[in-house]
Amino acid sequence: MNQIMRIQPVPEKLKPENLHRATIAYYNLRQVHGDMPHGIPRGPSPDLPDEQARMIRESREAMRGRRVLEVASGTGSATREIAVIAVSVTGVEIASNMLSIAKESENPSNVSYLAGDAFELESIASGERFDGGFASGFLHTCPFSRYAEFLNGFHGRLERGSTVFMRASRPTSPDAVSRLFRVEGHADQFMTRQLSDGSEYVMVENDPTEDEFRRIFEPLSKNLKVHIGNYWWWIRYELP
Ligand SMILES: C[S@@+](CC[C@H](N)C(=O)[O-])C[C@H]1O[C@@H](n2cnc3c(N)ncnc32)[C@H](O)[C@@H]1O
Repeated sequence: MNQIMRIQPVPEKLKPENLHRATIAYYNLRQVHGDMPHGIPRGPSPDLPDEQARMIRESREAMRGRRVLEVASGTGSATREIAVIAVSVTGVEIASNMLSIAKESENPSNVSYLAGDAFELESIASGERFDGGFASGFLHTCPFSRYAEFLNGFHGRLERGSTVFMRASRPTSPDAVSRLFRVEGHADQFMTRQLSDGSEYVMVENDPTEDEFRRIFEPLSKNLKVHIGNYWWWIRYELP
């Protein structure tokens, strides 16, 4: 990660509440139908389709036959991937535009979407029981300082023995790398993101190593599996 520049601290933008606000604002306004601008082409990536196919296969295998609570379901693209094999998937999403697109899409009958915050899951779908936990493209935007809060709440909604699968893309493209930065005194890595209307957002963009995943998740879980690929990471574990 030696390409990452260090910039002067911008403390206001890096406060957890402002990062949270920026993340919601960004996803609410983002052109969500695949037209994210990428300034610098990635170049040939012949191994990308295979890695993506493996990630989807392993996501499905983990959620097979489960009643899944999914956080940060976005437009529902990953929701629908696992719905083919899960008993049910309940997606929780905070950005209203993403949620609308998810609801308006063609969804299988075992999928439902709810408005909510991944950090406040206690009263979401209260009374429902879940034995699968799924998060695609969420944990990389979670500050390390909020992991315990998120994981306590998420795991608290899952039954004993539940399987959890989390995954996210890695900021490895030249474009992503050019927008990453770290700030002295902060554990997180950050990224600037722009939208076509010229607005700019600072968001957390963590890319944990296998050792970091093991240090965080081993004390909380059984049978932890960590995969760090070229384009995505994913982890799978069971709750004791
Ligand atoms: C990278 S997108 C991933 C969407 C989808 N899961 C996928 O894999 O395509 C991240 C999503 O997380 C949502 N999100 C971010 N913070 C959230 C939070 N605290 N609670 C619920 N959703 C959140 C965003 O609004 C956005 O829709």
